[in-house]
Amino acid sequence: MAKLLTVLGVLLTLHMVASNNLMCHMTNWAQYRPDSGKFTPDNIDPFLCTHVIYDLVTINSFNQITPTEWNDKDQFVRLNLLKNTNPALKTLLTVGGAVNNISVYVSVVSKPENRATFIRSAISYLRTHNFDGLNIAWDYPGHNGSPEEDRERFTLLLSEMAQAFDQEAKDNGKPRLTISADVTGFPSTIDAAYEVSKIVLYLDFLNIKTFDYHGSWEYITGHNSPLYPSNVDPPGSMMFHNINSSVSSWLARGAPPAKLLLGFPTYGRTFRLRTGANGLGAPASGPAEAGPYTHTAGFWSYYEVCGFLPSATVEWISEQEVPYATYASAWVGYDDQRSFSSKVQYMTAHRMGGAHVWTLDMDDFRGSFCGSGAYPLINHLRMSMGFGPKPTTTPAPTTTRDPMADFCRGRPDGLYVNVADKTTYFQCFQGNTYLHRCQPGLIYYDSCKCCDWP
Ligand SMILES: *[C@@H]1O[C@H](CO)[C@@H](O)[C@H](O)[C@H]1NC(C)=O
Ligand SMILES: *[C@@H]1O[C@H](CO)[C@@H](O)[C@H](O)[C@H]1NC(C)=O
Repeated sequence: MAKLLTVLGVLLTLHMVASNNLMCHMTNWAQYRPDSGKFTPDNIDPFLCTHVIYDLVTINSFNQITPTEWNDKDQFVRLNLLKNTNPALKTLLTVGGAVNNISVYVSVVSKPENRATFIRSAISYLRTHNFDGLNIAWDYPGHNGSPEEDRERFTLLLSEMAQAFDQEAKDNGKPRLTISADVTGFPSTIDAAYEVSKIVLYLDFLNIKTFDYHGSWEYITGHNSPLYPSNVDPPGSMMFHNINSSVSSWLARGAPPAKLLLGFPTYGRTFRLRTGANGLGAPASGPAEAGPYTHTAGFWSYYEVCGFLPSATVEWISEQEVPYATYASAWVGYDDQRSFSSKVQYMTAHRMGGAHVWTLDMDDFRGSFCGSGAYPLINHLRMSMGFGPKPTTTPAPTTTRDPMADFCRGRPDGLYVNVADKTTYFQCFQGNTYLHRCQPGLIYYDSCKCCDWP
């Protein structure tokens, strides 16, 4: 009986993990931040997220995908090499951008032949660079210089793309490429930008941008990513600038919760206080100083917030379940472990498909600022979502003449149980054997290809 319960426990844990996606964005401009802010795919922990989304490449005037950075292709290689360490990791490529303030998608969707060219280009680009899917960043169809018809044309693009991706997977016998899109969190713009009931048929995931609700463009302090409204929200549509309003709006329009990913920001938005008042809703005029690493007025990465906290007063906004910190004339509304926990509870209660994090490079990815180890926010998020401990890796034994060293010869790539020692497991990659050790106390289970409690 005890044994049965244990097995059941493992299955329940696995089921929970399987229904959860933790997609983490990285940006190709974070490589230009100075010193310990410099971020490249080499800084990614391969076991932290289920998916890494590379932001961003764009579309040229021939409707084909084209890089935005001189070293994008080198970074794709480094990113996708992480799959050697964690074969379960998936990677997506974000395509977006604007020319003269007009989204590059406007031209793509304008004609059937442009859409076809783009879709062909996307498939060949993703396959060439070993990505598992495409993430579409278009702010917003039918707005910002995009004609109203783009709302319907966006649907057309997605439906044609989904069909082409299905066909390509069949033709080549490969796992189908994933399609996701970054979508607005503002309830007032959802209907104007999307045919919700149709796009959800073609998208595998919708990354709701549940952040940037308040910032230094406003005249009073407000939180970047509050879970709920506050009684100091300015009247009008601002009342709906919070996570609960956004998610409720998507659900009310029939979006399947399992396809909706909740956005978790690893940054805060700053204000410069105008008077001695320093609470939520205090008078403000513009942003605080730019951060020393992100160099952008109006927001601070989480690791920059950590640099600010020792001198600051920290307050918890209980109605919105998020913190802010203030010192002298600077005010920042940010997220910490506690607010991430609240959001995970919300996400779970609404049976959402998981989280998307903006971004890997703004968490304390080296662990050198916040004193809580590397990736304190995303590791906390991962744990709160119920993912098991991450495996730790050791090089395969090669010095001693070990019959195990030949374990992978002739076997397909993947993870295998080590019957001699279940606290370890083999990873086969291109015929080579890698021995990994589970974290202390855990053993490897072939059923989930993971380490879990015995
Ligand atoms: C881009 O266009 C939008 C709407 O047309 C406008 O609100 C925004 O200020 C423009 N941005 C820039 C940088 O010109
Ligand atoms: C969350 O949104 C739902 C749907 O609009 C609403 O009924 C509920 O009262 C909201 N919760 C809070 C705490 O604002």
